[in-house]
Amino acid sequence: MQDLVSTDQNNASAPEAGSSGGENSAILSVRDVTVGFGPKIILDKLDLDVRQGEILGFVGGSGTGKSVLMRTILGLTRKRKGTIRVFGKDMDTASEEELAIIHKRWGVLFQQGALFSSLTVKQNIQVPMREHLKISQRLMDELAILKLELVGLSADAADKFPSELSGGMIKRAALARALALDPDLVFLDEPTSGLDPIGAAAFDSLIGKLSRTLGLTVYMVTHDLDSLASVCDRIAVLGDKKVLAIGTLDDMMKNDHPWIESYFRGERALRRV
Ligand SMILES: Nc1ncnc2c1ncn2[C@@H]1O[C@H](COP(=O)(O)OP(=O)(O)OP(=O)(O)O)[C@@H](O)[C@H]1O
Ligand SMILES: [Mg+2]
Repeated sequence: MQDLVSTDQNNASAPEAGSSGGENSAILSVRDVTVGFGPKIILDKLDLDVRQGEILGFVGGSGTGKSVLMRTILGLTRKRKGTIRVFGKDMDTASEEELAIIHKRWGVLFQQGALFSSLTVKQNIQVPMREHLKISQRLMDELAILKLELVGLSADAADKFPSELSGGMIKRAALARALALDPDLVFLDEPTSGLDPIGAAAFDSLIGKLSRTLGLTVYMVTHDLDSLASVCDRIAVLGDKKVLAIGTLDDMMKNDHPWIESYFRGERALRRV
């Protein structure tokens, strides 16, 4: 991982610096993106920048399109309009080779079906390795154990099936799979949903630690106010088919948009303090 990070064009510790500067320091940039299903428009001319090395928390009401946006960035849902650039490459004009490199540099934890139920944990972690690396089974086995250790699971979990794990262990194993190829960018869709508050807090601190030590950029969809407060550098709010606001938790606390106000300063939020 360290090698991957240090050979990267941009320096994770200085996201705003560099001759390219400004918008180009974004590891991911979404411009004017429109997505719809039939007559229903879900995202309308949406703009978003994710900076290198940051943990960006993505919030918004249920059904506003958070998962759709993530899937659109990943190329799994088609957009009608707009541009998505990842690691500086336009996803529409990138060559097959460039796309393969991009796919290798990102890891994903989906909201649904975090793991393949018919595969053991070890086999799950090895799915991206089989796809992208030509290495021996023995090396893949060793790497899988290292990834499990990285996310705080013991080697005993390697040969278990998802049905034999607790919810928290499944989330960690799915994170291990997202980290299988030492990515620079990870997409996490509701990684702490279904976990108890202590399990969720442990997961958040793990994400923070990984981001700091590996220079990972994290795109995290979450409903969890504690996650947003404790681990996210910035928060983006999805609503009205757009990114309504993006900034620090302080910025959100000062925002007067009704949804943002009730989310960050409503009864539920105030109960936290
Ligand atoms: N493949 C699809 N075909 C048609 N409609 C879809 C499809 N995928 C998503 N939608 C619709 O797009 C809207 C946004 O869905 P999405 O899953 O992105 O919401 P979300 O913000 O992730 O919600 P949640 O917080 O509940 O996960 C919903 O109205 C959903 O029904
Ligand atoms: Mg969703």
